[in-house]
Amino acid sequence: MPFKTTLYPSYDAMSESCAAVMLETVRKKKDAVLVLATGGSPLSAYRLFVKRVQEEKPDLSEVTFVKLDEWRFLPPENEATCEYFLQKEILQPLNILPERYISFDGEAADGKAECLRIEHALQALPQIDLCVLGIGKNGHVGLNEPDEALDFGAHTVTLQEKTKTHDMLRHAGVQSVTEGITLGLGNLMQAKTLLVLGTGADKKDAYAYMESGKISCAAPVSLLSLHQNVFFYKNTESYSV
Ligand code: PGA
Repeated sequence: MPFKTTLYPSYDAMSESCAAVMLETVRKKKDAVLVLATGGSPLSAYRLFVKRVQEEKPDLSEVTFVKLDEWRFLPPENEATCEYFLQKEILQPLNILPERYISFDGEAADGKAECLRIEHALQALPQIDLCVLGIGKNGHVGLNEPDEALDFGAHTVTLQEKTKTHDMLRHAGVQSVTEGITLGLGNLMQAKTLLVLGTGADKKDAYAYMESGKISCAAPVSLLSLHQNVFFYKNTESYSV
């Protein structure tokens, strides 16, 4: 089995486990670096993590949070953005200082320059300790969309149809987004630990691919199985095996 898969009886149980891994990461290393996805899959885990941090008060003053990706050309106050999500769910509740947060500016006119800025910011950090990732309905991870060849590092991307109607956009009534900006598979592979959360019955094609033992740019998330320390947490609530 290429991915170390753990099947949870519910979304809540999966979220508890993910929050525990996040907490352990920041407890163990005071300058830990965490790359965070946004969306429905990690939402409850982040809320549990925030609750535990507020109760236990580990020192997070040297922990760095990195935003995995962003929609292009939406202002950060738009509630569809990854920025809005992370500010609301993690950064503001935990009073994370701006200098401890690395984040794509989705509105940057020069996408290439923005990717270079993020690459430089990552290079200045210690190795990424943990990436919390979701899975797209089309098998994407971050906004690494299926393609013949994939970008190694941070890059801008044209979104595919399924991604243009992502729940974050749909719920906010946003129909105008056609591009994204994201860390690349190469960035993610450099992390010590990858945690891939699987929730949503509509992702069963991607799950099947991940569990088939095959790797392909047609399902970018499958490439993560090449990592030595990748964990796939999925729940039965919205996915029946
Ligand atoms: P979701 O999104 O967690 O909201 O399902 C995951 C993704 O599209 O990458």
